[in-house]
Amino acid sequence: MLAHQNITPGLGAELGQEIQLNTMSAPEIDELKQLAAERGIVVARAQVMTLQQQADFAHRLGEPLTRPMNPPEIPPELIQIKADHNSKRAAGEGWHSDVSSESEPPGLSMLRMEVVPNAGGDTLFANMYAAYESLSPALQAFVQILTAKHDPIGHYLYVSGAKKLDELPSAIHPVVRVHPDTGRKALYVNVGFVSRIMELNRRESQALLQLLYDHVAYSANIQCRVSWQPGTVVFWDNRCVQHFAAFDYFPETRLGYRATIRGEKPIACAEA
Ligand code: SIN
Repeated sequence: MLAHQNITPGLGAELGQEIQLNTMSAPEIDELKQLAAERGIVVARAQVMTLQQQADFAHRLGEPLTRPMNPPEIPPELIQIKADHNSKRAAGEGWHSDVSSESEPPGLSMLRMEVVPNAGGDTLFANMYAAYESLSPALQAFVQILTAKHDPIGHYLYVSGAKKLDELPSAIHPVVRVHPDTGRKALYVNVGFVSRIMELNRRESQALLQLLYDHVAYSANIQCRVSWQPGTVVFWDNRCVQHFAAFDYFPETRLGYRATIRGEKPIACAEA
């Protein structure tokens, strides 16, 4: 297993300083993916990587989603994540799992930071295995038979090339999914994309979703936060974590690039 230190007992791994992603062998990349599946997030510090090297690395992780409208200097495999003195909002401000409205939503995301504010700009992560496991057994049994509709409300339109949200499809996914590489159950509803629970009426659906969102947002014991430096790269596995980008640094600049790797159709508990 790659040398690492746990960030909290249940969530996150920080790789040893000696590890440079660009020189990783194929077996080491497999270990990186497995570590992300087990620990939810993997942090690599002091990485020396160009935009093109990051795009190339993304192909070693799987099939990157592409952004057809990127300017020529940004490879189509990367999304620029930027906020500065002109920004009213920042991408990812709110708990979410990346682009969960896709029928095969992302597995790994890889964010590499180039410019950071003097203070702040952390990303918060929450462990969705622990979110599921810390529900009472009766609620675990109930939620694992439900499905939820994920609408492209928080979609980065530019990922697909679509111009309007209603050009993009919605998807119905299990409320609890089984991670294909760990076999563990993870809660899979997020406030950024989910519009309703299919098996419940609207009022029941809203009440249950709010309960689950509060459980994620207020359970500090299942969360960690990552503080960025230029050259920090973080991988997160969207199947088993949600994240929240704190926008507490206005009017300073924060700039990074994200590669997003296609996952698979989420596996329901009954199919596992
Ligand atoms: C995102 O949601 O991908 C943005 C995360 C961040 O900027 O920390």
